[in-house]
Amino acid sequence: MTDTLAIGGYTGADAQALEQDFSAKIVSGLDALDELSPEAREQVRGVAYQGHAPFDGEQMDKLPNLKVIANFGVGYDAIDVAAASQRGITVTNTPNVLNDDVADLAVGMLIAQVRDFEAGAKAVRSGDWAAKGALPLARKMSGRKIGVLGMGRIGREIADRLAAFKTEIHYQSRSQKDTPGWTYHADPVDLARAVDDIVIAIVGGPETEGFVSAEVLAALGSDGVVVNIARGSVIDEEALIEALSDGTIRAAALDVFRGEPKVDPRLSKLDNMFPLPHIGSATVETRAAMGALQRQNLRAGLDGQTPPTPVN
Ligand code: DGY
Repeated sequence: MTDTLAIGGYTGADAQALEQDFSAKIVSGLDALDELSPEAREQVRGVAYQGHAPFDGEQMDKLPNLKVIANFGVGYDAIDVAAASQRGITVTNTPNVLNDDVADLAVGMLIAQVRDFEAGAKAVRSGDWAAKGALPLARKMSGRKIGVLGMGRIGREIADRLAAFKTEIHYQSRSQKDTPGWTYHADPVDLARAVDDIVIAIVGGPETEGFVSAEVLAALGSDGVVVNIARGSVIDEEALIEALSDGTIRAAALDVFRGEPKVDPRLSKLDNMFPLPHIGSATVETRAAMGALQRQNLRAGLDGQTPPTPVN
């Protein structure tokens, strides 16, 4: 039996590398732990984890000799890091290598909604362009005031890119950063009041649950667009559905959803919501870099070394 489990949808080169370098046993989800014999579970010292199902203390206790959980992804909100620390388990993630891709996607989604790409594409495909002529006008991107929620590594990449589109950058984060020319707001409602659109780039987890509330959406106003590339949990989804349905805000573009991959049908049917299936980092190059970093972390954790990107 192996000392390494790869839990998640590992396929292709990633699966091959985990099998070759670690003799890893690949299983699809945490449920598979219950199917392993007690002897097999005792052997496991390292887990390569990919997924959003909660990896909590109860799951960790099924692997009594676990030393390292190497997460595939920068966001590790699915892993109970406090429970891992209590058990002496190192948790790692894959930051930085995906910043550009996630920021590119966020900017693309914002422009798509401000300029109404989806309505335009529908008019061409349906023949409405030829039959009915011009569509309602969209809004101008340059000159807009954009509020970036979260000024971590990805938030900064997003703001840098948006500034190049001649927008005015505002941001909210736990503390003010060294960001000359950009306006800091301590409170998310104040930020929403000051800007046209909001791009969400804060971490998920209990601390930020429902951070983008009905109050934030109301403060953004009826011309506002909300883009979320972070985690579905950071938006109050009920409030968002209501705000999109009654015109409190103009539109949203969402790469992440509460309870994904299932999406609330009340949300997915809305024409002013542009959905993507959590593809922020989904490019060949970036996924390869994330896999390589995950394996370096896993190797270091198994060897009792400090991993390149630990989170605890
Ligand atoms: C992450 O890395 O956390 C992103 O959401 C991509 O999965």
